[in-house]
Amino acid sequence: MEHPVMSTTSLFSLTFCAIFLLFLPISILKISLATTLSNETDKLALLEFKSHIDSPLSVLVSWNESFDFCQWVGVTCGNKHQGVIGLDFQNKKLVGIISPHIGNLSFLQSLNLARGEIPVSLSHCSNLQSLDLKYNQLVHEIPSELGFLSKLQILILESNHLSGRFPPSLGNLSSLQNLSFAYNNLEGEIPNTIAQMKSLTSFDVAINHLSSLFPPSLYNLSSLTYIALTMNNFSGHLKPDFGIALPNLQILWIGLNLFKGTIPVSLSNVSDIHSLDIGGDYFTGTIPMSFGSIPNSIGKLSSLNILNLGANKLIGEIPSSFGNMTQLLGLYMYNNSLEGSIPPSLERCSHLQDVCLCHNKLNGTIPEQLLGPQSLPLVLLNVSHNSLTGSLPPNVGNLKLLVALDISYNKFSKEILAQLGDCLALETLYMQGNYFKGTIPDLSKLKGIQYFDLSNNNLLGQIPRYTINFHEQNLNLSFNNLEGDVPVEGVFRNASAVEVKGSIGNFGNVYKGKLGLDEKNVAVKGNDFKPLVYEFMPNGSLEMWLHPEDGFKQLRSLNLLQRINIAIDVASALLYLHPHCQTPIIHYDLKPSNILLDDDLNAHISDFGLARLLSKSGKEVLLSQLSLAGVKGTVGYVALEYGMGSQLSTNGDVYSFGILLLEMLTRRRPIDKLFKDDLNLHNFVKLALPG
Ligand SMILES: *[C@@H]1O[C@H](CO)[C@@H](O)[C@H](O)[C@H]1NC(C)=O
Ligand SMILES: *[C@@H]1O[C@H](CO)[C@@H](O)[C@H](O)[C@H]1NC(C)=O
Ligand SMILES: *[C@@H]1O[C@H](CO)[C@@H](O)[C@H](O)[C@H]1NC(C)=O
Ligand SMILES: *[C@@H]1O[C@H](CO)[C@@H](O)[C@H](O)[C@H]1NC(C)=O
Ligand SMILES: *[C@@H]1O[C@H](CO)[C@@H](O)[C@H](O)[C@H]1NC(C)=O
Ligand SMILES: *[C@@H]1O[C@H](CO)[C@@H](O)[C@H](O)[C@H]1NC(C)=O
Ligand SMILES: *[C@@H]1O[C@H](CO)[C@@H](O)[C@H](O)[C@H]1NC(C)=O
Ligand SMILES: *[C@@H]1O[C@H](CO)[C@@H](O)[C@H](O)[C@H]1NC(C)=O
Ligand SMILES: *[C@@H]1O[C@H](CO)[C@@H](O)[C@H](O)[C@H]1NC(C)=O
Ligand SMILES: *[C@@H]1O[C@H](CO)[C@@H](O)[C@H](O)[C@H]1NC(C)=O
Ligand SMILES: *[C@@H]1O[C@H](CO)[C@@H](O)[C@H](O)[C@H]1NC(C)=O
Ligand SMILES: *[C@@H]1O[C@H](CO)[C@@H](O)[C@H](O)[C@H]1NC(C)=O
Repeated sequence: MEHPVMSTTSLFSLTFCAIFLLFLPISILKISLATTLSNETDKLALLEFKSHIDSPLSVLVSWNESFDFCQWVGVTCGNKHQGVIGLDFQNKKLVGIISPHIGNLSFLQSLNLARGEIPVSLSHCSNLQSLDLKYNQLVHEIPSELGFLSKLQILILESNHLSGRFPPSLGNLSSLQNLSFAYNNLEGEIPNTIAQMKSLTSFDVAINHLSSLFPPSLYNLSSLTYIALTMNNFSGHLKPDFGIALPNLQILWIGLNLFKGTIPVSLSNVSDIHSLDIGGDYFTGTIPMSFGSIPNSIGKLSSLNILNLGANKLIGEIPSSFGNMTQLLGLYMYNNSLEGSIPPSLERCSHLQDVCLCHNKLNGTIPEQLLGPQSLPLVLLNVSHNSLTGSLPPNVGNLKLLVALDISYNKFSKEILAQLGDCLALETLYMQGNYFKGTIPDLSKLKGIQYFDLSNNNLLGQIPRYTINFHEQNLNLSFNNLEGDVPVEGVFRNASAVEVKGSIGNFGNVYKGKLGLDEKNVAVKGNDFKPLVYEFMPNGSLEMWLHPEDGFKQLRSLNLLQRINIAIDVASALLYLHPHCQTPIIHYDLKPSNILLDDDLNAHISDFGLARLLSKSGKEVLLSQLSLAGVKGTVGYVALEYGMGSQLSTNGDVYSFGILLLEMLTRRRPIDKLFKDDLNLHNFVKLALPG
């Protein structure tokens, strides 16, 4: 006995539905039929199906006469005298063609397959209520014959490669509730026939190439709760009574299109909306003042969780009524021309996690209220590229969940507060391009920092040593007025790329790299002209061994013999630099951080940033040059005579070497705070080791 529908010629097209199941098939095709056929028909259909399929995983071996077909792998039968109700080949990597006999499985409710065209013959399954083919590799057009499936409630074709136009015949699907064609390549207009889908609640065509106006027929579908048109080429204005026509919307995503005009004020009449995304369109004008004002009565967006108005052409201020949107989790207003200040009323949005206001014209300070004791649970605060002033509020340390803080390119001009160091979750800190002054505070508690950019400010003083403990960070301190030593040892040990350039002086960029056939680790120090390549020193610097308390990892301590060997290495190197070089070289900055130790703890003198070539004509080393640079070297190690204007000589290095020896013996720096008044490292050693 044949099902009458199956004898139509359209069935033949099914034989061309080469549904390749080569990779992981995860489609779910739910078919409900209500006609009765004998179970022999089901068995025959299954065997026909098998005969056109290769199964690399041998799933179909069990499909033989020794078993009732209800026990065949992948087959589910119904109760009583129903036949096959389910076929599941998810992840079975089947290859081949789906036999048209499958249309004879009259009780089939669910079919899990993959890849190919949507079989036109599906249109004969006139009782089908739900068709879900998402995440496949379906190609070609959506068959207009699907319009025959008059009982269809759910039609999900998202995440395929479907092309062509939206079939007008689908307007016949008057029972349809959910439609998703997202993530395909559909083009053209949305046909007006969709106005007949009176049951539609969910309409998703995001990420296609659809165009024309906001589909006018959507305004007829007042039952819609979910509209997603994101990333298409829709254009034109939204109707002023948008919110009146679609009063049940919960989600409206129409960003990344070409919509223009003003944001309809009536949107604030939509009482249940919780996600509104119009980011990346061409909306102009101001943000409706009604957004947020007078909550709960008739909407006013008080249920909003996500509000994205970013990347439009909006002007004016952020309404203080936003403080009434107390359910907000994410507020995205980036890339507009908004002005005025950040409304302190946002403090009442007590769930707010993401705030992105970058690329606007906002001025004023970051309101202290936002960071109060009951501070917002902010995870991201991005206010970069505005005209904000002041500094971070003193209570910034309350932001215990803050992962990313970007206040770059504003007009912040005060000191960086040490309280920032209490934002223990911080991973990204961008403060570059402001006028921050003073020294860099102690942020050493920020162990999770990945990105640390304080470049292009007016910062003074030393580069804090803790920066060398930030693992694999991108550290940028360039273009400030920092001075003193670059703690390169840590750089050599921990960081992949560290930039310390600009007004820092002689220090270029330092990179760790590999060189030569043996891929030896090297540290590369570069400036604009020439890189210097150093051998990579796995054991860091002598500084790290002598003073682990300064934020260095505790290395083993050096025994006396090791210290003597290091002293001998340094002395030999000086001997080489001074008389043995053709042109004697004065190192000028000999100190523990410039003594690097290789694998075998052999000492190497590094950092010739200050080294001076002693010209042939004797000791007339260019004082002018020296005074241009100011007295450099390092306090405590540099020969005192230099400070009094004495000429450079190799004796200066010998003085530094002497200090170095005393420091290696005592593990006290010449500038240890112990040394004041008449006590210095020299007579301290004399006291400790008389004779
Ligand atoms: C039939 O299927 C069973 C179960 O997989 C298998 O053990 C048996 O070898 C099959 N028989 C034939 C003739 O393929
Ligand atoms: C198929 O039909 C036979 C005889 O009509 C019956 O005994 C058997 O239970 C049926 N099988 C199924 C799965 O319905
Ligand atoms: C099932 O479908 C096939 C292919 O269209 C057809 O040839 C056959 O007659 C149908 N009916 C039965 C009972 O197998
Ligand atoms: C859809 O309905 C129209 C009438 O509204 C009819 O002319 C057309 O044939 C139908 N198309 C399909 C595919 O069902
Ligand atoms: C149908 O859409 C609604 C939202 O409008 C959603 O909650 C529901 O999960 C969807 N159902 C299916 C089966 O996709
Ligand atoms: C929109 O149209 C332009 C011009 O035809 C085209 O380049 C662009 O890819 C389209 N965008 C989308 C998302 O279809
Ligand atoms: C859609 O709404 C418009 C205006 O409200 C109306 O003129 C039109 O007839 C409606 N279309 C359908 C198909 O209901
Ligand atoms: C929409 O909200 C405005 C106030 O924002 C109100 O005047 C108007 O009556 C509301 N319209 C409807 C249809 O609720
Ligand atoms: C919040 O709504 C109240 C009315 O309930 C209103 O008086 C107040 O002005 C609104 N707040 C803001 C900041 O607009
Ligand atoms: C925001 O504007 C900046 C600068 O014009 C631009 O580089 C960036 O791509 C824009 N971002 C978005 C999401 O539009
Ligand atoms: C902020 O800008 C607005 C205009 O955009 C101006 O009226 C106001 O005085 C500015 N406020 C500050 C503190 O600069
Ligand atoms: C802040 O926004 C700007 C502009 O979109 C972006 O470049 C930057 O990466 C963002 N910062 C963070 C920390 O996400």
